[in-house]
Amino acid sequence: MTVLVTGAAGFIGSHTAVRLLSRGEEVVGLDNLNSFYSPERKRHNLEEVARQQARSGQFQFVEGDVRDRALLARLFEQHGFRSVIHLAALVGVRGSIQNPWQYYDVNVNGTLNLLEAVRAQPAPRRAQFVFASTALVYGRTELIPFVETDSADHPLSPYAASKRAAEMLGFTYHHLHGLDFSAVRFFSVYGPRCRPEMLAYKWLDSAFGGAALPYHNNGQMHRDWTFIDDIVNGIVSASERRLGYQVINLGRGEPVLLADFVETLEFVAGRKAQLDTVPMPESDVHYTYAGIGKAQQLLNYHPRISFEEGIQRFYSWYTDHVRAQGPTDQGPTDQGPTDQGPTDQGRIDQGPTDQGPTDQGRSAESSGEDG
Ligand SMILES: NC(=O)c1ccc[n+]([C@@H]2O[C@H](COP(=O)([O-])OP(=O)(O)OC[C@H]3O[C@@H](n4cnc5c(N)ncnc54)[C@H](O)[C@@H]3O)[C@@H](O)[C@H]2O)c1
Repeated sequence: MTVLVTGAAGFIGSHTAVRLLSRGEEVVGLDNLNSFYSPERKRHNLEEVARQQARSGQFQFVEGDVRDRALLARLFEQHGFRSVIHLAALVGVRGSIQNPWQYYDVNVNGTLNLLEAVRAQPAPRRAQFVFASTALVYGRTELIPFVETDSADHPLSPYAASKRAAEMLGFTYHHLHGLDFSAVRFFSVYGPRCRPEMLAYKWLDSAFGGAALPYHNNGQMHRDWTFIDDIVNGIVSASERRLGYQVINLGRGEPVLLADFVETLEFVAGRKAQLDTVPMPESDVHYTYAGIGKAQQLLNYHPRISFEEGIQRFYSWYTDHVRAQGPTDQGPTDQGPTDQGPTDQGRIDQGPTDQGPTDQGRSAESSGEDG
């Protein structure tokens, strides 16, 4: 019984694939290796997955696009997935403001294609669906800590709105076709192999001689940073349970002031980064704070890694794998169009504006990323 992991070459996807393989599972990883950040880096992530496969489990990587319906149909026919863990997405707030069409195409249409592929499976053996959502769907809510009963209907960016729209499609497919759909809302995930434009990564790049980092609101905002291992526990647990339709927060449940997060980075790295204080963008939120009671109850989810320990672990990885490799890849390049969409008959008309996230859209987000 195979699990489909979309976005398997990415940060969270590669960790999820490794974890599933370590449990002896069969995994198909689907990823289009877009150049939102270096595809080379994603291939390194896949090497980590392959290393785990050499020890346990079965892994097949498919380079392809979630917008390619013909490809999805073939994969579902070949593998009869028991579970779909859908992590592939265009991520980040500012890129979505620059190019909302593309974010909607990948994040909403891509999810719709997967829901349709699951619906087409013979009942009752349809795959259980885990969808990667984000804390940003809560927008500027007054309900703190964030609770899943919040209507979450005031997202502040096209990225957040696209995730909320995909969650709602999940409800529709649950209602009409009985699919089991769990939307897991991640809160500021960080750790080894995280995306190079994320705050902790950019901060270390800057501290070790890279460019200055825009620092929103002088660090006066809270983020519920969650270490990757804890998030993967929640994802895998959700993938094992048929829960009807659920939205479930996966955070640490302990918001940390950005300035304190940065101070801990300074302490661990023994140096300071160059920070340029800039105002908060309208698309950003002042606070994220996960209520995790529902995850504890439904998923037996108990985050264990404190942010101090998480930063220490992240720093060790950065030292061994990024600094040791020489000059760092500064993340997204300004090569122009990178996400050309699927290439065979499953291709959707991208329209004239599908030029890939702009360089601006992919610059460092000092506020605490996309969740
Ligand atoms: N990292 C966080 O803090 C965070 C917070 C909230 C939500 N999320 C969500 O978690 C998921 C994984 O995020 P991540 O941080 O690992 O990002 P990532 O960019 O490292 O991983 C996403 C992967 O999806 C792939 N992809 C993008 N478009 C695709 C397409 N059309 N077809 C196939 N593959 C495609 C990319 O190549 C990439 O490898 C995303 O859905 C994101 O929205 C992440």
